[in-house]
Amino acid sequence: MNKKTINDVDLSGKKVLVRVDFNVPLSSKDPQDDIQVTDDMRIRAALPTLNAILDKGAALILCSHLGRPKSPDDTQFSMAPVAKRLSDLIGKPVQTVNDVIGDSVTAVAEKLQPGEILMLENTRFHLGEKKNDLQLAQALAQLADVYVNDAFGSAHRAHASTEGVARQVRANGGAAVAGYLMEKELAALGTAVTNPEHPYVAIMGGAKISDKIKLIDNLLDTADKILIGGGMANTFLKAQGHEMGTSLVEEDAIEEAKRLMDVAGSRLVLPVDLVVADEFSADSKANTVPIWAIPVSKMALDIGPGTLERFNAELQDARLVVWNGPMGVFEFENFAEGTNGLAHLLAEFVEHGTKVMIGGGDSAAAVRKANLADKMTHISTGGGASLELLEGKSLPGIAALDD
Ligand code: 3PG
Repeated sequence: MNKKTINDVDLSGKKVLVRVDFNVPLSSKDPQDDIQVTDDMRIRAALPTLNAILDKGAALILCSHLGRPKSPDDTQFSMAPVAKRLSDLIGKPVQTVNDVIGDSVTAVAEKLQPGEILMLENTRFHLGEKKNDLQLAQALAQLADVYVNDAFGSAHRAHASTEGVARQVRANGGAAVAGYLMEKELAALGTAVTNPEHPYVAIMGGAKISDKIKLIDNLLDTADKILIGGGMANTFLKAQGHEMGTSLVEEDAIEEAKRLMDVAGSRLVLPVDLVVADEFSADSKANTVPIWAIPVSKMALDIGPGTLERFNAELQDARLVVWNGPMGVFEFENFAEGTNGLAHLLAEFVEHGTKVMIGGGDSAAAVRKANLADKMTHISTGGGASLELLEGKSLPGIAALDD
């Protein structure tokens, strides 16, 4: 990575503003409830950076967005439960304020001592955040001497707290550097884009092909094989002329699917069997059929065991695997076998030396649900960000940091 990190700057006695991605799931949408964090993976992932900054003798000011609030009145998106969870995990008090910027925030930030932690309110409570508003970026920059971006999950957003603030801190003579999580994510997923080990096998899933066309195009330049599962496989199979029954098919993307198959040839590997059902529901009865025998009244909800076997064969020599998107509706037990089976298969490959990187979002959730998170080489904390990185895009939150 050609960006500076917290190892490259003197932090002793400094005030350090850290943008984290603490956009975590919560137990309730009702502000009257005692709202709890239900998955603290993103908070744990930032701890090495936060502890290192504190150990270097700095005071920590943290900021993050949480959810997609429309206004500061959406108090169910307050950072308070997140601050509490962080405090439990880091074993120190985490002070909170009820705003992102402003006189009251500045007063608390000014008094902050080395070793102390302050968490600002949800950055999206300020309407300037998503607009990358200059005044908000300047006000955030004024709170600290150094800016650290450790929010890989938000690095694809050019917002005031991810992008604008980095430029403002530098304009004030300060440094804008990456945290350890950002560095780790780029070392894992970034290397798959810039310098992958071969054979490199990409596994793509998820509902829609239209969301992943750019990604597949980019993978055609870098990956040796692309294995396709999930709902998006339906559109490819339909483009090959298969009857897909009532399965989700993106008719608008059929021409694109044909183009991708033409360019990829045998490098694109599609399912050979699918698990079908009468309807999209958890208790719908599951049946496995070959791809040439999908009944007109049924919909595909998972890949079948024959497909898993085929994928297994394609993965045998792989040195690098990147997986993005589930193989079926893994939230329903009857249709989770393809996704779970693949997760188990990949865990075994890791044991034999293959590097397996899991893109964030649904595939990361599936791997964690299967209790295999610690078996993978890397699980990204970013959903949209990991997708954009793998598409070969420059992420604004990273681009804005000091070279
Ligand atoms: C995520 O969860 O992918 C990031 O936190 C970004 O959230 P957003 O899609 O609301 O910008």
